[in-house]
Amino acid sequence: MTTLYQGYPGYFISFEGIDGAGKSTHIEAFCQLMKERHPARDIVITREPGGTVLGEQLRGMVLNTPMNLETEALLMFAGRREHIAQVIEPALKAGKVVVSDRFTDASFAYQGGGRGLSLDKLNQLESWVQSRPNGSLLQPNLTILFDLPGEIAQARRSKARMPDKFEQMDLQFFEKVRQEYLRRAKADPQRFHLVDAARTPEVIWSDLQSLEIDI
Ligand code: TYD
Repeated sequence: MTTLYQGYPGYFISFEGIDGAGKSTHIEAFCQLMKERHPARDIVITREPGGTVLGEQLRGMVLNTPMNLETEALLMFAGRREHIAQVIEPALKAGKVVVSDRFTDASFAYQGGGRGLSLDKLNQLESWVQSRPNGSLLQPNLTILFDLPGEIAQARRSKARMPDKFEQMDLQFFEKVRQEYLRRAKADPQRFHLVDAARTPEVIWSDLQSLEIDI
């Protein structure tokens, strides 16, 4: 199966990283920057789990209810299917720029790396949910990965609001999630832009500003 071929006039960007890495701090400012740089383009900001009415309902379940690992992965991908059908594909077909706070890399990192679901099952779900009629696999054109050691992320998280199911996991879990993200970034350097999230928000922001995006 071919990946990375989109064939849409739009452009798809995802933000990823372990909880506490700081992606949420930058995503809105990043969208604002895109609007300024590309005034002719509509920017759609969305998120996973979520992004649709059904997806937001599923988000409430998967983030708060303990469940079997396969169930969790199926719900993540069910929400993703709806998100793609209702939001992502129509926007890309209409030439819009879609910026999603997480996408499938999070399933590989959290359900795969963190919780131990087999790569084979994740690949099957991905190909089921993201296959396009031309045989290619829908993927972001660009994935901005906020990378941070688990310990620093944990210290940042403890200052934040009430933790959800994932945010309550231990350091070892987040190290496994991080390693899976890094493995995927290494395997696909064309798609990933790695951000060293241990630096100050100002330095990270100037890194994002200097990113050349060919949209
Ligand atoms: P997050 O994106 O960090 O939102 P917030 O900033 O509001 O906490 O939270 C979503 C959580 O869902 C995060 O812990 C990662 C997890 N997740 C998965 O486990 N699998 C997935 O496929 C996705 C999209 C998210």
